[in-house]
Amino acid sequence: SARSKKPSSRLPFTAIATSRADQVIVPEGYDCQAFIPWGTPITGGYPAYLEDASNTAQDQAEQTGMNHDGMHFFPIDTPIGAGIRSDHGLLVLNHEYIDPGVLHPRGPSETDGKRTSADEVRKEINAHGVSVVEIRRDNRGQWAVQPSARNRRITGSTPMKIEGPAKGHALLQTRYSPTGTSTRGTLNNCSNGFTPWGTYLTCEENWAGYFASRDSELPRELSRYGIEKTGRYGWETVAGDEFQRFDATRSGENAQSDYRNEPNTFGWIVEIDPFDPNSTPVKHTALGRFAHEGVIFAPVKPGRPLVCYAGDDTRNEYIYKYVSRDAYRPRRGNSQNSQLLDEGTLYVARFNADGTGVWLPLDIQDQSFQAACVAAGASFADQGEVLINTRLAADIVGATKMDRPEWGAVNPDNGDVYFTLTNNSERQETDAANPRKPNSYGHIIRWRESSRDYAGTRFRWDIYLLGGPQGVGLDPRGNSLTADNILASPDGLWFDKDARMWIQTDMSGSQLSQGPFGNNQMLVSDPTTGEIKRFLVGPVGCEITGIAATPDLRTLFVNIQHPGEGSTPDSFISNWPDGNGKRPRSATVIITRKDGQPLMQNKSTRA
Ligand code: FEO
Ligand code: CA
Ligand code: CA
Ligand code: CA
Repeated sequence: SARSKKPSSRLPFTAIATSRADQVIVPEGYDCQAFIPWGTPITGGYPAYLEDASNTAQDQAEQTGMNHDGMHFFPIDTPIGAGIRSDHGLLVLNHEYIDPGVLHPRGPSETDGKRTSADEVRKEINAHGVSVVEIRRDNRGQWAVQPSARNRRITGSTPMKIEGPAKGHALLQTRYSPTGTSTRGTLNNCSNGFTPWGTYLTCEENWAGYFASRDSELPRELSRYGIEKTGRYGWETVAGDEFQRFDATRSGENAQSDYRNEPNTFGWIVEIDPFDPNSTPVKHTALGRFAHEGVIFAPVKPGRPLVCYAGDDTRNEYIYKYVSRDAYRPRRGNSQNSQLLDEGTLYVARFNADGTGVWLPLDIQDQSFQAACVAAGASFADQGEVLINTRLAADIVGATKMDRPEWGAVNPDNGDVYFTLTNNSERQETDAANPRKPNSYGHIIRWRESSRDYAGTRFRWDIYLLGGPQGVGLDPRGNSLTADNILASPDGLWFDKDARMWIQTDMSGSQLSQGPFGNNQMLVSDPTTGEIKRFLVGPVGCEITGIAATPDLRTLFVNIQHPGEGSTPDSFISNWPDGNGKRPRSATVIITRKDGQPLMQNKSTRA
């Protein structure tokens, strides 16, 4: 409508239209530039990106990975008194998965379903994980990668420690780590989080697909997570310990390799200290094992427990909350603060029809949990086993099955928590919190902890918006979505420091190719008015995911994931960002305002 197009004080731009162009579109008055695309040299020998994708596995370990996802900007401190820097920092980002048809010159080589090149598979493993990139803005406003000892690639084979209640558990013992205290790599790193003490959290989402088991009966810690007979990329078909670890088969010859527990060392939240390139990443088992989308902290108060929220992005899975046992004390060092993520209580959400909700503890010492286990005829030897089987524990206590919980975000002004529920094609029965079946378009749910006590167990919730075309989707005021803001499959979610909410979409299939929504997009919403406006549309076949800003909000970083998804070596569906028929590359985009002001500053109030 004309009204919503008028620049308001909090969203001072004109909403852009949907688009199917193979480019990133932002509103008038803004600039947008691709940055650190897949294959950008960042460390080691800084090997140049080769346009025919012939870079080796070792090159890939020194370049940014593929399929950029969750991301955070850590400012690099200046001398005391100079304030927080907005022109120099560490950009840390996830590389969720790979497009094999784009990663290799001629796609993956295989014969009879078996991968035939170990180096190709190594390249795939190295294209996963996390990049730490030191970046700096010059006085012309151009950002560039700095050659820095802090730059780092963490991959699907980087050694990691295991901490928390499941550390050393019999179910985590492998030939690589007979003590069950370490593992190799992090995989399918989707969304992210960051701690109050300045470390990065990366979340293992669809890790189950990387493992294989040909056993006719799987143990519950594999079956409840959907381990199948073959891995998605066939890594387990290559000889050698570094690949055979993806085969968890217990029977026959593979029992000898004894990687039956390898999948149990995945599905966790991983902490990385980006400022210490020699630090070993830590898998924190107290936060539970599931298809971790992301993790977001409640407002932090010194002397109070640390509280964070995390979603399990699979159809009919759950939303969780973690409350640390000990209080947060900012002056303690990183390693002591990190231990707050190892001792605490994991809860799962039940959303009642009357708009109330309750956090149910998954704690073997809790009487209600014990009673629920007895009623369900299930038992766990210890808390480690509860956490390794987090989904089963949540089933037992009667949590609410949600429509694929993706990102969460906390409003910095009032502590309200928002979560995207991206869609659920398999919903059979509706409930108040998941009111549509099937839920093709997704929605955003919101809650407020009772008495704003984040560590408490009661909350009130409502639905913020329903995705969909005009006449179906509803905005926070209960009005139909309009041409300015129709959206579907909300996924990425983030609040800027001024409490505006940014929403990113991940449509796929016919919803993406034929729907009224155009390419995937990013919108911004003002929760105080319920206004929503489309701010960005991505290129063909991409998803918009991952968002971070400099503290002054003059630079916004957004990730364009899998442009041209489904491309083959003979047919690139998108040529973004390089154009000219070249292979598509996931990349970050840098968004600034042409006048150099903070992104959402109203012209009339400019200082
Ligand atoms: Fe990797 Fe749920 O998105
Ligand atoms: Ca996602
Ligand atoms: Ca998604
Ligand atoms: Ca994705």
